[in-house]
Amino acid sequence: MPSLAIRGGRPLRDKGWPSWPIYDERELKALEEVLKSRFWGGGVGKSGPKEREFEEKFANYHGCRYGVCVSSGTVALHVALLAAGVGPGDEVIVPALTFWATGSAVLMTGAIPVIVDVDPNTYCLAVEGVEDAITDRTKAIISVYNYGNAPDMDEIVRLAKENDLVLIEDCARAHGFVWRDKPVGSIGDMGCFSFQQGKFMTAGEGGIVITNNPMYAEICHAIKDCGRIRGGGVYRIGILKWLNWYNYRMTQFQAAILLVQLERLEEQLKIRQENSEYLSKRLEEVEGITPLRINPRLTRYQPWPFAFKYDASYFKGVPLERFIEALRAEGIPCSRTEPPLHIALVPPRDPKAYELYVRRNRGCPIAEKAYYEEAVELPQYLFLGTKEDMDDIVEAIIKIHKNIDELL
Ligand SMILES: Cc1ncc(COP(=O)(O)O)c(C=O)c1O
Repeated sequence: MPSLAIRGGRPLRDKGWPSWPIYDERELKALEEVLKSRFWGGGVGKSGPKEREFEEKFANYHGCRYGVCVSSGTVALHVALLAAGVGPGDEVIVPALTFWATGSAVLMTGAIPVIVDVDPNTYCLAVEGVEDAITDRTKAIISVYNYGNAPDMDEIVRLAKENDLVLIEDCARAHGFVWRDKPVGSIGDMGCFSFQQGKFMTAGEGGIVITNNPMYAEICHAIKDCGRIRGGGVYRIGILKWLNWYNYRMTQFQAAILLVQLERLEEQLKIRQENSEYLSKRLEEVEGITPLRINPRLTRYQPWPFAFKYDASYFKGVPLERFIEALRAEGIPCSRTEPPLHIALVPPRDPKAYELYVRRNRGCPIAEKAYYEEAVELPQYLFLGTKEDMDDIVEAIIKIHKNIDELL
């Protein structure tokens, strides 16, 4: 009789996990209020009432004076890059392991993403790679907080300053994080967040750019509101020559939900951080499994997603994909990481841009190893559970290890 669930044995865990997203009467009330106000859409010419309140609260919570609500995290990056003046002929440094939007937003501006490999211990941008990648075409760096972790932000800020580059923080997965004593999003020139369904705060979709620079705030607003200046007036095409304008507005329904979600952020972050620290410690007990090393200067964080490394040589050579299927069968939701940007992105079609893109992106061995051989991801909502839930994850891996012959 087999033991492993994938072979017909009894799953280690047959109960569910915390549901996501979380809502209660407060979201219902907030939605009803917007419905009855008849102000449903994005504010035209100025932020709508719920947007304005959310922009102020969210930006202040993350150490910034200004916030500009937009329709998604991808759009937040596009708007921030445009506001920074990024366009055709420019290069923007991005990490290999991130969601593709980090790279596709660069391509949307006509610039070239220069994809830099990650650090093997953190899976975040490797600083040495950033330094090597800077040329006189480099205009900006997008640093990403991935896997509840951070690249060395002190070094990235230094490199951006020394080379006169705009630093955009992709905080799509990093609501509430703090680097030393600074909230993320306030460390560089602009911080971009996502409120898509799976994120720590969600309105189904949505995004925001935050900044302490009033000029960036004004231009970001104008880009997302068809050229309208917040507080009066309209930019005409040609005044800022590099820009076009879009409707990237957020609705009042989204902003109203997000105001409530912000109230839950602190408490949820604490639970997720405690559980992920506990899980990391316990995973260290398991041969062949290595949790990521969280940068100790990242003092507040939560996993999106949680990642650990699987070493097949301790599991009789069973490939990553098979191990993941077996873990899922035991009742643990998990997956591989997304393909690195240089594999996932569609290169630009313009022949000159294509040539530059190919010349500047020649592979990232550490990210490739993570994707093909070793990285296992666990979704954020698992970490809203209990220590016993974390124990189940560890016990499921140990069970697979003990019965690995069943997978051969
Ligand atoms: C790191 C990162 N950047 C950008 C985005 C894009 O956000 P959105 O899905 O809201 O467009 C995501 C979303 O998954 C992300 O994880």
